[in-house]
Amino acid sequence: MPGLLLGDIFPDFEADTTIGKIRFHEFLGDQWGVLFSHPRDYTPVCTTELGRAAKLAPEFKKRNVRMIALSIDAVPDHLGWSKDINSYNCEEPTETLPFPIIADPKRDLAIKLGMLDPDEKDNDGMPVTARCVFIIGPDKKMKLSLLYPATTGRNFDEILRVVDSLQLTAYNNVATPVDWKPGDRVMVPPNVPEAEASKMFPCGVFTKELPSGKKYLRYTAQPK
Ligand code: BEZ
Repeated sequence: MPGLLLGDIFPDFEADTTIGKIRFHEFLGDQWGVLFSHPRDYTPVCTTELGRAAKLAPEFKKRNVRMIALSIDAVPDHLGWSKDINSYNCEEPTETLPFPIIADPKRDLAIKLGMLDPDEKDNDGMPVTARCVFIIGPDKKMKLSLLYPATTGRNFDEILRVVDSLQLTAYNNVATPVDWKPGDRVMVPPNVPEAEASKMFPCGVFTKELPSGKKYLRYTAQPK
């Protein structure tokens, strides 16, 4: 059965978190959202990931993105673990991170959102959560999902980079090419007819000549 698909309304749910009970859609308000899950508290890879996420939190805030993590342990564990994460970041070992962590001890959400990693089990033989990332737009629709196994840590700079691409392409009819970074040139999407491209992109369109003779590889400057 397919799980959540791009364009689906992301499920609303109630959850206990390190900042108290939340309703997810209310938590997001009219902002973008990024929900990232972790296998367990007090584990090494997760600690490095949450440390990096905390360092990048001001960048997500600048982009109007609310961050929220999830792990299958309970709130008191999350609070204790947050001290370790802050200490790993060479900061005061407080219980506060710049984003809440959802507690999912019964794995209700992990099951609902298709987050379990069947290859990674805890000491009781129960599967732990994989490393999922869901990016949700202000319309509450899912814009992007990533699913990594527990043994492979994610790259949070890449998550920020895709937020930049998602926001740019949500508000402008352009696409971003391989390894694109903000400020690089972007691509004119295939659905823009040749006759309209130069009107749509007055700063110019460069079309790369290709052996097929087809004029589909078109660059333009990144819109402001
Ligand atoms: C970790 O976060 O270090 C981890 C968690 C589960 C399996 C493997 C690694």
